[in-house]
Amino acid sequence: MSFLSASTTALKRGIASTATRTHGPNRGMKILAVLYKGGEAAQQEPRLLGTIENQLGIREWLESQGHEYIVTDDKEGPNSVFQQHIKDAEVLITTPFHPGYLTRELIAKAKNLKVCVTAGVGSDHIDLDAAVERDIQVLEVTGSNVVSVAEHVVMNILLLVRNFVPAHEMIERGEWQVSDVARNAFDLEGKVIGTLGAGRIGYRVLERLRPFNPKELLYYDYNPLPGDAAAKIGARRVEDLKDFVSQCDIVTINAPLHDGTKGLINAELLKHFKKGAWIVNTARGAICNTEDVAAALKSGQINGYAGDVWNVQPAPKDHPWRYMKNPLGGGNGMVPHYSGTTLDAQARYAQGTKQILENYFKGKAQEPANIIVGVGKYETKSYGQR
Ligand SMILES: NC(=O)c1ccc[n+]([C@@H]2O[C@H](COP(=O)([O-])OP(=O)(O)OC[C@H]3O[C@@H](n4cnc5c(N)ncnc54)[C@H](O)[C@@H]3O)[C@@H](O)[C@H]2O)c1
Repeated sequence: MSFLSASTTALKRGIASTATRTHGPNRGMKILAVLYKGGEAAQQEPRLLGTIENQLGIREWLESQGHEYIVTDDKEGPNSVFQQHIKDAEVLITTPFHPGYLTRELIAKAKNLKVCVTAGVGSDHIDLDAAVERDIQVLEVTGSNVVSVAEHVVMNILLLVRNFVPAHEMIERGEWQVSDVARNAFDLEGKVIGTLGAGRIGYRVLERLRPFNPKELLYYDYNPLPGDAAAKIGARRVEDLKDFVSQCDIVTINAPLHDGTKGLINAELLKHFKKGAWIVNTARGAICNTEDVAAALKSGQINGYAGDVWNVQPAPKDHPWRYMKNPLGGGNGMVPHYSGTTLDAQARYAQGTKQILENYFKGKAQEPANIIVGVGKYETKSYGQR
């Protein structure tokens, strides 16, 4: 019986959350992947590649080369499959959608670890400083889902500005009172829209917003856009953060999570936002202070907050962002972390992960843009100024 059919049988028995191991002799290296549980959806939809069921589509390929491939979603606590197998894994594959948090303490235990691959974009769940110190490379599939996220941002901006969610909820309740939703619905045309972080996603967001005829497109980033790129979309850089947020009707956050962005959007900064501004954050939840954002929405200091990223994932049932509302009962566009894991994105990051592994096995150079941490040093300029 092939491993795949054995694995399918195991899944049907409901033990998908435990590690799956290869049969036969362990000739190659140990590769550990922490992915999200796809359940019935993943069994019905093989293109859900980023799940423990479909395993990035690389099991047969890895096993044919004699490698051991452990796949799990069990990531919390010292007895979790993740924390047990990290001790002797050589390669760790993780995904931002169900992050296996590789802390400094775990890195100290991971004696054999040489490469971390993020299947997607955003490697803040890895202690990058500790990886630098231990000569562990951190690679991601740069660009693999930037269009997917940029489209989600545009959708989030529109649904907040046009007050879409309460209007749809009204319809589901069987009601019809146009004024109740129209009283907080606006046009995007003529608004000032700014991105905090103007890298691959931030730039694509601005590019997609230009046809809506905003009053102005702004950006705040310590890495300025090349002049021709900024001119192409008519974006103006603002160098001071308070000055930036005070000019925007809509702020979209598109910077990685690092020491310089953690908790950046807090009660103090929120005072400098235009009253009634909208915030869209698909970057990382912890860039915003959870309680401060919920309070600002409740008071009406901001009119809406939308995104798909949370300070803890999966978000607990009582997380304030699940239920927070503005004074008119709307302004919440939160969803689970999925903007960058469309089926199109999954195909790209699964393929990119395979390419990174192939390069590693063959000793070939990695694509420079994919290297967050090289051997002993940061290669990216996106994770803070140093
Ligand atoms: N929700 C999702 O599914 C999803 C998917 C992909 C990426 N993301 C998040 O989006 C982030 C950005 O992705 P990207 O591909 O655009 O990355 P990128 O590296 O191309 O761009 C990031 C930009 O942020 C800027 N930046 C960093 N710190 C900053 C700060 N303190 N203030 C202002 N700007 C700052 C950098 O200079 C850079 O220009 C990722 O790191 C990840 O956290 C989320």
